[in-house]
Amino acid sequence: MSQLLVFGNEKGGAGKSTLSMHVACALLQSGAKVGILDLDLRQLTLRRFFENRTNFAQLHSPKLPVPTVSKIDPTEIGTPENHFNMLTSQLLNTHDFVVIDCPGALTKYSELAHANANKLITPMNDSFIDFDLLAHIDPETNAVQGPSIYSEMVWDARKARSLSKGAPIDWIVARNRLSATNMHNKRKVGEALENLSKRIGFRLIPGLSDRVIFKELFPKGLTVADPSTLTKQPTTISNIAARQELRDLMVGLELPNFTIKF
Ligand SMILES: Nc1ncnc2c1ncn2[C@@H]1O[C@H](COP(=O)(O)OP(=O)(O)O)[C@@H](O)[C@H]1O
Ligand SMILES: [Mg+2]
Repeated sequence: MSQLLVFGNEKGGAGKSTLSMHVACALLQSGAKVGILDLDLRQLTLRRFFENRTNFAQLHSPKLPVPTVSKIDPTEIGTPENHFNMLTSQLLNTHDFVVIDCPGALTKYSELAHANANKLITPMNDSFIDFDLLAHIDPETNAVQGPSIYSEMVWDARKARSLSKGAPIDWIVARNRLSATNMHNKRKVGEALENLSKRIGFRLIPGLSDRVIFKELFPKGLTVADPSTLTKQPTTISNIAARQELRDLMVGLELPNFTIKF
């Protein structure tokens, strides 16, 4: 059964596009067939990344695996539901995984993506500002006071899924841009997230540190999942650690019928 992997949260700059391009390349380099749909119609970061990859492949590496990129047609006159269902079912029928990158604000398409996700992956910077997008907490005790508007939207999507007796949405939070130095903040955010995960029912998985390599390969459309003969990255400890972080993240996703091969 193919899977719809949705990268979402209602905050810009959290790492949705970064994580989605890394996960998509990790899937491709492991031999999976991948379809892509970018719902951030203003930024189109994920689509741009794969245009770069296709250009790089044409110039340097014709065998580099690339995904099928599907596009929302802004001139589509049917309902968003019909358009979304048509695009995703075409991709799901012919690919192992469909990766969807959402914008940092609620749109009809991102709501549809959340409602249809098999896995919803929410990246979060290690900051209480990002935490606030998931839940409000007591400033003195850090106790969770209540879910945020985004968590409520996810909750509604999960409730609708269970009423329709569909497979449950696996909601996963991955911390992103973890700092190697700010240990106190890292621990405090970590503890608050552990608490929250039990309250509102997401899984917390290993995320990515803040590393240059997670952004500098964008113009080539490459990631640490791609061979170093192409990325031309030196075998530094930091680059090896980056690759391992991506592997750990892929394990955390618990994808069916998937073995890491990069
Ligand atoms: N793990 C990381 N290490 C270094 N830079 C990162 C990392 N994750 C994201 N960034 C940078 O942070 C910015 C926002 O990330 P992006 O993926 O565009 O967020 P979103 O799609 O949620 O708005 C970008 O400049 C990106 O290169
Ligand atoms: Mg983005």
